[in-house]
Amino acid sequence: MKAVRLMSEDGHQALAVMEADKPAVVEGKVLVEVHEAGVNPLDWKIKEGWMPAPLPVTMGGDFAGVVVDVGPDVSGLQPGDEIYGMAGFFNGGTGSFAEYGLVDARSVAVRPKTASEKEAAALPLAGMMALQALTEHLRLEPGQKLLIQGGAGGIGSFAVQLAKHLNVYVAVACAADEFDYVKSLGADEAIDFRAHKFEDVIRDCDAVYDLVGGDVYRRSYQVLKPGGTIISTLERPDEELEEKYGVKAIYQSFDVTAERLGRLAELVDQGALKVHVEKTFPLDDVEAALAYQAEAHPKGKVVIDVK
Ligand SMILES: NC(=O)c1ccc[n+]([C@@H]2O[C@H](COP(=O)([O-])OP(=O)(O)OC[C@H]3O[C@@H](n4cnc5c(N)ncnc54)[C@H](OP(=O)(O)O)[C@@H]3O)[C@@H](O)[C@H]2O)c1
Repeated sequence: MKAVRLMSEDGHQALAVMEADKPAVVEGKVLVEVHEAGVNPLDWKIKEGWMPAPLPVTMGGDFAGVVVDVGPDVSGLQPGDEIYGMAGFFNGGTGSFAEYGLVDARSVAVRPKTASEKEAAALPLAGMMALQALTEHLRLEPGQKLLIQGGAGGIGSFAVQLAKHLNVYVAVACAADEFDYVKSLGADEAIDFRAHKFEDVIRDCDAVYDLVGGDVYRRSYQVLKPGGTIISTLERPDEELEEKYGVKAIYQSFDVTAERLGRLAELVDQGALKVHVEKTFPLDDVEAALAYQAEAHPKGKVVIDVK
């Protein structure tokens, strides 16, 4: 089968599109024919060596495809099922940038009926992060005010829609040319982060979802109400700032589960969540796909056509 492998070459990490052995099914795993693979910032960060990888390794996490075989102890799935989920080496899989992948049965679910395979492949990591942040960590209630830093990106695009679905007032800090996009997703307010200091424009938020990090993260504490919560996918809590503003900070790490994927699929099928795929690339152009994700400022998601 064809696969995108990350190799060590002269002391550097490099990608190669090559022939690799098709994995064989084992206990607890599902063998999938991968049709589409979603791209996340995580993928280019692994390629660039920002995140450790056990080289050589097949790249890719998010996918949509069809079950080919299941391990002896796997229940509820059978050959022919159309599923989606996460197949990265970092959560027990063999990688989704390949024609076949072995996936942990706990990291897959039947894909949304109303979404295409491309859309389903774009959903797992980013959709799950948004769902977990808003409904499990922040537990937002109708009428509360949320600021999303980086609301036009992969996770942000889902978070804006989920916030609207929860009847939360949602403000988004993003570039001015992304205003129409985030408003089409349901944002009540858009703040041009280049033209304004967001802290001069918004205050008294119940929560901030930080998808940017660094200085933006640290400046965000001050726009919270006392008792409010900031959650970040990039930064660990700053105890001094928590104390200074009387707020709580959370670092969010990913945990893609069948249960969360099932809830995401329901939200898509109810029409509460739409998947915006901005661009697709063939598997042979994986370098271009990762560069596009890292540099081209995509609105929504990038997907690789594997089949
Ligand atoms: N902890 C974890 O387990 C975990 C899991 C998933 C993701 N992450 C991380 O979370 C981050 C967000 O993920 P993602 O998939 O949503 O990434 P993404 O698609 O790249 O979105 C990030 C967004 O932030 C915007 N942005 C950059 N600087 C900004 C600023 N100063 N103010 C407002 N917006 C700004 C970007 O806009 P431009 O494109 O115009 O710059 C982009 O739209 C990534 O760094 C990712 O690696 C962590």
